[in-house]
Amino acid sequence: MHKPIQWPENAKGAGSEKLTEAELLQLEAKYCSHGDTVHYTNPPKIFERCEGSFIYDAAGREYLDLQMWYSAVNFGYRNRRLNNAVVRQLETLPQVASQYLHREKIELAAIIAQDVERKFGTKGRVHFNVGGSQAVEDSLKLVRNAKNGKSLMFAFEGGYHGRTLAASAITSSYRYRRRYGHFGDRALFVPFPYHFRGPKGMSKEEYGHHCVKQFERLFETEYHGVWDPKAGQAEYAAFYVETLQGTGGYVKPPMNFFRELKKVLDNYGILLVVDDIQMGFFRTGKLWSIEHFGVEPDVIVFGKALTNGLNPLSGIWAREELINPEVFPVGSTHSTFNANPMGTAVALEAMRMMSETDYETMVMEKGAYLLKGLEDLKRRYKVVGDVDGLGLALRMEICEPHDSFTPSKAIVDRMVDEALKADIEIDGRKYGVVLDIGGYYKNVITLAPSLHITKDEMDLVLKLLDRLLHRVSKDLTG
Ligand SMILES: Cc1ncc(COP(=O)(O)O)c(C=O)c1O
Repeated sequence: MHKPIQWPENAKGAGSEKLTEAELLQLEAKYCSHGDTVHYTNPPKIFERCEGSFIYDAAGREYLDLQMWYSAVNFGYRNRRLNNAVVRQLETLPQVASQYLHREKIELAAIIAQDVERKFGTKGRVHFNVGGSQAVEDSLKLVRNAKNGKSLMFAFEGGYHGRTLAASAITSSYRYRRRYGHFGDRALFVPFPYHFRGPKGMSKEEYGHHCVKQFERLFETEYHGVWDPKAGQAEYAAFYVETLQGTGGYVKPPMNFFRELKKVLDNYGILLVVDDIQMGFFRTGKLWSIEHFGVEPDVIVFGKALTNGLNPLSGIWAREELINPEVFPVGSTHSTFNANPMGTAVALEAMRMMSETDYETMVMEKGAYLLKGLEDLKRRYKVVGDVDGLGLALRMEICEPHDSFTPSKAIVDRMVDEALKADIEIDGRKYGVVLDIGGYYKNVITLAPSLHITKDEMDLVLKLLDRLLHRVSKDLTG
C-alpha cells in the first residue's frame, strides 16, 4: 500500500507557509539528534539569511558575525563570485562519479600542488575528501603507510583535529573519547607554547625554545619511551600540528618555535603534518599558515574555507615520496563525494580569487587594526587578560577581574548570551554579535571575521565588543 510521506502535524502548509520559530524548536527538541551539535544558548538560535559579515534571524535582527562558521566562510557570506561559480557548475556538470574525472578536480589539484612547490620547494600531490575530519583520517592512513604501519602520533595539548574515531584519538580532549572506547591509537600530547599561561619569567621565544627542548628530551635515551637508538627509529610516525591552535583558543606560538621543532623531527625521522583546516586560506594572512614559520611541511591538511563553506571539500597535500601511486595506491581511501564537482568548481574559483587579490597585505593590515583596538580594550577592561593574533585570527582571553588571569568561562558565557540579544544600539541601529568560544578553559573569544570585513565594520566590531565588555564588567562591580 502506498504510504505517502506525512508532513509534521504542526507544519501548516508544508513548504508554502513557514513553521514559526517556536514550532521549529519544538520539532528540533524532539526529532534532531543533539549528538552532532552543541547548543551554546538556550533556546538555540535559528538564522534565516546572511550577507557579507552579517547574519539575520527570523525577526530580521542583524548580527555581526565574528566566527564565520568556524572560519569556513573566510570570503564573506553569499560572496557573489563564489556563489556564481556554484551556479555555473550546477548548470553544467553538478554530478559525476568519482571513478571518472572532471576538469575542476584536476586543475584544482595542480594549482595547489604547484603553489606548495613554489613556496616550499617540494613536489607533491593532492588528495580530496569532503570534511576536515575525513581528510585528517586520510592523512593518518598516508603517514601510517609511509612509516610501515606505525600508528602512533604526536600531537599538542589543546590541539583539535576532528571528531571521527581516528581524528579524536589525536585531538587532545578526553571528553571526545570518553564514551566511545579506543579505536585509533591515542596520540602522545605534548605542551604547546601557550605563553600567557606558561611559566613566568620567560620571554615568548624562550618559552618556545623550552617546549622544544622538553620534547627533544624524549629522544635522549631509549628509556624515555619513544626512540630506539640501536635501530635509529622512533615509535611515532608523525607530529600533527596546528600553527595557531584553533579550538584551543587561537594560541599563537613564538615565531622560532616550528623551526626548532622541525629540526628535532628531522633528526628522528618524524613527519610534520600541518592541519591547516582552520588557519588555512589566508585566515592568518598566508594561504598556508605554516608559511609564516619558515618550515617545510611533509603533509598539509585543508578544508573549511577552500569552498567558502559552500559544497564541502577538504583534502591533503603530501610530498611525492609519501603519496605517489606506487606507495599510496589507487583505492587507498574512498568516499562517494570526495572530489565532488560542485566543491571543486567553487574551490577553483576561490583559488583564482586568492591569486588575483593581495589577501596577504589586506589581511595583515586589517588584523593589525583590529588587534590595536583589542589591545585598547584590554587596557580598559580588567576582564580581558590577553589579546593576540596573526592576520585575522584574533583572540581575547576573558578572566576574573581581580587578577586578569584566572580564566572565567562564566563571564564569557554571559558575553555570548548578551551578544545574541541583538539589542546593542550603535548610531541608532540595533545589533547582535555572533561569538565563538574556545580555549583550554573555554574562556577565549576566538575572533574570525570575514577577510572582506570593511573599515566601518571593524570599527563596529570594536564598539560592539566595548559595549559587551562594559555590560559584563558593570554587573561584576554591581
Ligand atoms: C584544526 C582543525 N582540524 C580538523 C577539524 C575538523 O574539521 P571538520 O569539522 O570539517 O570535520 C577542525 C574543525 O574545526 C579544525 O579546526
